[in-house]
Amino acid sequence: MSYYKIDSLEHYFKMYKKSVREPRKFWDKIADEHFTWYQKWEKVIEFDMQEAKFNWFVDAKLNITKNCIDRHLARRGDKTAIIFEPNNPEELAQHISYNELYAKVAKMANVLREQGVKKGDRVCIYLPMIPELAVSVLACARIGAIHSVVFAGFSSAAVSSRINDSECKMVITSDGSYRGNKVIDLKIIVDEALEKSPCVEKVLVVKRTNSKVTMKADRDIWLQPLLDEAVPNNVAEIMDAEDPLFILYTSGSTGKPKGMVHTTAGYMVQTAYSFKNVFNYEENDVYWCTADIGWITGHSYILYGPLLNGATTVIFEGVPSYPDFSRFWEIIEKHQVNQFYTAPTAIRALAKENIDFVQRFPLKSLKVIGSVGEPINEEAWHWYNAHVGGKRCPLVDTWWQTETGSIMISPIPFVTPTKPTYASLPLPGIQPVLMDELRNEIEGNQVTGSLCIKFPWPSMARTIWGDHQRYKETYFTAFPGKYFTGDGALRDEVGYYRITGRVDDVIIVSGHNLGTAPIEDAINEHPAVAESAIVGFPHDIKGNALYGYVILKEVGESRNQENLANEINQLISDQIGPIAKLDTIQFVNGLPKTRSGKIMRRILRKIAEGDFSNFGDISTLLNPEIVEEIKNGKL
Ligand code: WTA
Repeated sequence: MSYYKIDSLEHYFKMYKKSVREPRKFWDKIADEHFTWYQKWEKVIEFDMQEAKFNWFVDAKLNITKNCIDRHLARRGDKTAIIFEPNNPEELAQHISYNELYAKVAKMANVLREQGVKKGDRVCIYLPMIPELAVSVLACARIGAIHSVVFAGFSSAAVSSRINDSECKMVITSDGSYRGNKVIDLKIIVDEALEKSPCVEKVLVVKRTNSKVTMKADRDIWLQPLLDEAVPNNVAEIMDAEDPLFILYTSGSTGKPKGMVHTTAGYMVQTAYSFKNVFNYEENDVYWCTADIGWITGHSYILYGPLLNGATTVIFEGVPSYPDFSRFWEIIEKHQVNQFYTAPTAIRALAKENIDFVQRFPLKSLKVIGSVGEPINEEAWHWYNAHVGGKRCPLVDTWWQTETGSIMISPIPFVTPTKPTYASLPLPGIQPVLMDELRNEIEGNQVTGSLCIKFPWPSMARTIWGDHQRYKETYFTAFPGKYFTGDGALRDEVGYYRITGRVDDVIIVSGHNLGTAPIEDAINEHPAVAESAIVGFPHDIKGNALYGYVILKEVGESRNQENLANEINQLISDQIGPIAKLDTIQFVNGLPKTRSGKIMRRILRKIAEGDFSNFGDISTLLNPEIVEEIKNGKL
């Protein structure tokens, strides 16, 4: 019986039980049989849950890019590794074979080394979804530099704070990026960011849009001429299992983004294993995940997971609405995509459009369709299942997080029966539990609670860059001895999990995690603002939208409120990015606060939702009268 690939429900239950009873043996087998190592491990795992210390595959030596590329060359050298589909459908798609990918990564790795990047250095990558993004990520991994990809929709202030947090010495960017019919001048954003980021010594610039750029002498270099000179082979750096592979920032409950650190061996083993099982990838399949490589989904399931399995993975530069709303379906036809992985927000947006956009395409190549990033509502699930999956493709609703590194709870196609809106069962090796408010584990089925994981898994983040204490406090103290996900979940009568949403201060808007604190910090920078509070409210495309309650410094501030609201949104856009803009801003004279000064967000959430039915007990509020006033002023 294979440890690596599960092919029946019985097989799943067997493997699952093994993985709980003997987790070390389980992961040992998987790691042993499917990867290339310079040196194997002494021990599968050493850990201390209280201190949040985890070492997987102790003392093993490897390079993840040898596993993503080199070992495929003999058998799959001419196979397409990456299909690049440009924003503009008139521009030719590119097919990059494993041989070509090897040469590109080797050249880029050599360029990085020549430019002074060494093992352990941090490199910020701020690029559109073009092949150079994939190549830059892999080239960093090749030489042991730690990549920190920043989503190219973030503002210069957000880029700068991320660069400074991990002290990146290099930025890789492009002149600009294409998104639909827009051109965004990325280099200008980087220039602005670097005014506040003196740690950056070099900026490598990819030419994509021919936008006008200013190149700063001694700092900025066009990439292509360097690549033209570089040698197309490269000796990979030997990495320890626990050497950091990358940092990826995610929002938290304070204004400071959390740089989640992922390390090499555990991340490799589990992204590969989960990709193979969750997408049922077979040798000649074409796989497409529509996420951006700037998010964890893109790291694990556009690049590492697929390449580790020698897959063909599509990288799409554009947006689902350009040139029209059939773009996704057209691409599936064009490249005969077999596995398609996207987000509920995209599904809801596309389901709103004329059904012809999707019905024009037979989509017969599809075998498996997937969803990630937020709860998928029943309506979206059925639309996706019927109109994209043709009711014949299993729909895998995959639950996981930036922090978990790989998919944790998901159906396995053709193995686990699916149930709408349920992420279903944990993958082998994953031990979810539900906890009640008294920190007791809730046993049995048909129950709800806070979702925790009670045993470590290989691809878990190891720390927050520069702040292990925060890592420990955020994830390992709410429920001692367990990892707390920040999500609530229910377990149904057969043990299937359904994720109900965040139970902390993170709001998921269009699949993007947004902390309330950084947005409130941005608003409070407006000179007229005294205080603010953000809550999410249901939105039929974005899942959630943001509602801001803002107190102005001067009561009855005489300025035009519409202008003020625009200025506030502009500030948010500048500090974080347009994704964090508020849908609604209500100016208020006070916020409901407890006697200890904590804002009662529960009430604000209800008002934003327009649900005035029952505010619960508000007698503990310092200022209960404000509730009525806010309610009456609801927009
Ligand atoms: C949410 C994305 C319901 C959840 C991979 C989680 C989901 C957060 C699902 C992590 C799902 C992700 N069903 N909710 N299938 N997948 N989430 O870090 O709240 O961007 O904690 O990682 O997204 O978001 P992140």
